[in-house]
Amino acid sequence: MKLAFDDAGRGPALLLLHPFPFDRAFWARATPAFVGAGLRVIAPDLRGFGASQTSDATWTLVDQAQDVLGLLDQLSVSHAHVLGLSMGGYVALALAALQPQRLLSLVLAHTKATADTEQAKTGRGQAIQTVQTRGVDVFADGMLDKLLAPQATPELRVCVRALMNQPAPTVVSALQALRDRPDRQAELSRIAVPSLVLTGAEDGISTPEENRALAHQLPNAELEIISGAGHLSPWETPEVFASRVLRFVTRAS
Ligand code: MLT
Repeated sequence: MKLAFDDAGRGPALLLLHPFPFDRAFWARATPAFVGAGLRVIAPDLRGFGASQTSDATWTLVDQAQDVLGLLDQLSVSHAHVLGLSMGGYVALALAALQPQRLLSLVLAHTKATADTEQAKTGRGQAIQTVQTRGVDVFADGMLDKLLAPQATPELRVCVRALMNQPAPTVVSALQALRDRPDRQAELSRIAVPSLVLTGAEDGISTPEENRALAHQLPNAELEIISGAGHLSPWETPEVFASRVLRFVTRAS
């Protein structure tokens, strides 16, 4: 599967894997800081998202990881720092399981290695029904509150909401793939590269407690809980997000 992507800057590669229901435009605020610090930023639209639209009805997060590995091959990038946020983190963990030797380091942002709980799976089913009966906009409006910390400004809410603009078949396929993803906790002890686990103090989707446990399960991880951020620190606290990632990646380079 050919992916649309941005490729900016020169230096060690930093692969950015976006969350759901976003696309590579999600990284617009963070990319200049990464490029300015001497990194080559590669940011794909995952299968079905943004300009990587597809007629494929269903796919898994492993398919997404294989697509991304194909993109690295296409660009002759043998090694990369891999940063996945939320859904992008699930893809990053799938990628780490498929080809661990490609990773220079791993940043797991606002994500988790556990599978959906039964309650979460039920919620995915309800979300699919909402998309199919009432449309993506109603679904996205409802999701916005869960993504941002309560103190998010109206301007930020408008900005983030405008980025949540994916076709209905993609949103449905993604909800199925998120629901059906495996528990990857047993694989964490095999991730030897330096890792940064990062979330927001007010993230209700990937909570500080879950992230503490995740960092503890990785052999070589540090943990960052960003105060004032919910689920989307690259937009809520962009300077803190970029500087924390850069400090880590620079040390790991
Ligand atoms: C995301 O931000 O990518 C999603 O919230 C992930 C999820 O719902 O599990």
